[in-house]
Amino acid sequence: MQILITGGAGFIGSHVVRLFVNKYPAYKIVNLDALTYAGNLENLADINSSNYEFVKADIRDRAAMFSLFEKHQFDAVIHLAAESHVDRSIESPTDFVDTNVIGTMNLLDAARHAWAKYPAKGDFRRLFYQVSTDEVYGSLGETGFFTETTPYSPRSPYSASKAAADHLVMAYYHTYNLPALISNCSNNYGANQFPEKLIPLCIHNIKNNRPLPIYGNGDYTRDWLWVEDHARAIDTIFHKGILGENYNVGGHNEWKNIDLVRLLCDLADAELGKAVGSSQQLITFVKDRAGHDKRYAIDATKIERELGWRPSVTFQEGLLATLRWYLHNETWLNNITSGEYQRYYQQQYAQR
Ligand code: NAD
Ligand code: TYD
Repeated sequence: MQILITGGAGFIGSHVVRLFVNKYPAYKIVNLDALTYAGNLENLADINSSNYEFVKADIRDRAAMFSLFEKHQFDAVIHLAAESHVDRSIESPTDFVDTNVIGTMNLLDAARHAWAKYPAKGDFRRLFYQVSTDEVYGSLGETGFFTETTPYSPRSPYSASKAAADHLVMAYYHTYNLPALISNCSNNYGANQFPEKLIPLCIHNIKNNRPLPIYGNGDYTRDWLWVEDHARAIDTIFHKGILGENYNVGGHNEWKNIDLVRLLCDLADAELGKAVGSSQQLITFVKDRAGHDKRYAIDATKIERELGWRPSVTFQEGLLATLRWYLHNETWLNNITSGEYQRYYQQQYAQR
């Protein structure tokens, strides 16, 4: 079975590739990634199995997507490749439409044409699995949860581009009978996350004694899930999810940003042997993000009840493991934060 995983050199994709390559030796995993600033082959340095192949390609390149499907005759696609950072989407929305919308449509068309030409292998079901986000649902007030029937109401260029892609996936399911499903996951954290996102950015800054920029008053809530639990959810949905459906994935783990960063500071003080409370002194309230979504919270009852998935670690365990990973993988962090990252950081934070 040939499975195409897109975006496998990124944060979540690298955990999904590792899980599938190791758990399913009978599958051939092809990891397609353009290696943008967020793609990093160091995330996959431990993988050298014969059931794994890396292909450097760009999903915006329609012809390349068609010829890749011709060559490999993929049976299934797990699509993660995307521009993924909200702040970057505010600066350059076009990149998000190009990759997240047009790129997804290129893959959908390549799958549709290829699967019309060659028969499915054995009883292995064909599947186009779109990995999406809870941000497509918009923003919650103090109460309530996103369920699978919450209407899409995206509010950032990032979430709008993901929502558009999700709509195309479902349109192809209904119009062309393309076998497809979607999952919508909450904020992930863990090893390999690019330090533009809140948790690795703060770990990097704590390490370097730099300010921890908290947007607005820090009174924004996110629902955090350990990335390896997300990878396990993707495995479960890939094998057991019902075509045409979407599945919410989350950890029942809501944190206000300011409380999360304070906890991270306390854990870091203990790990680094610093005086209690010293990292918290780095917390700096800065200018808010434009259109900042107030609260995300996932109701994950459906995947738990119907597919039997649930998170495996507590937040304290996952956050400590994440902190230790960044502290022990200095080379990874140093390689990523030299060069281009400095320009990005300056551009994003100098005026805040
Ligand atoms: P990431 O930014 O870490 O990785 C994205 C990967 O896609 C990178 O390896 C990059 O090189 C690749 N890529 C980008 N543009 C490409 C293109 N045009 N062609 C081919 N490859 C390209 O992102 P992530 O956080 O790992 O997110 C992966 C997926 O999961 C995304 O679709 C995102 O919307 C979704 N998601 C993320 C989160 C989260 O908390 N990070 C939560 C829910 C859903
Ligand atoms: P982020 O990690 O960018 O994820 P998302 O925007 O997709 O939820 O941000 C998580 C939360 O942290 C969000 O409310 C914005 C906030 N935030 C800060 O306060 N400071 C920062 O430097 C960053 C990157 C995010």
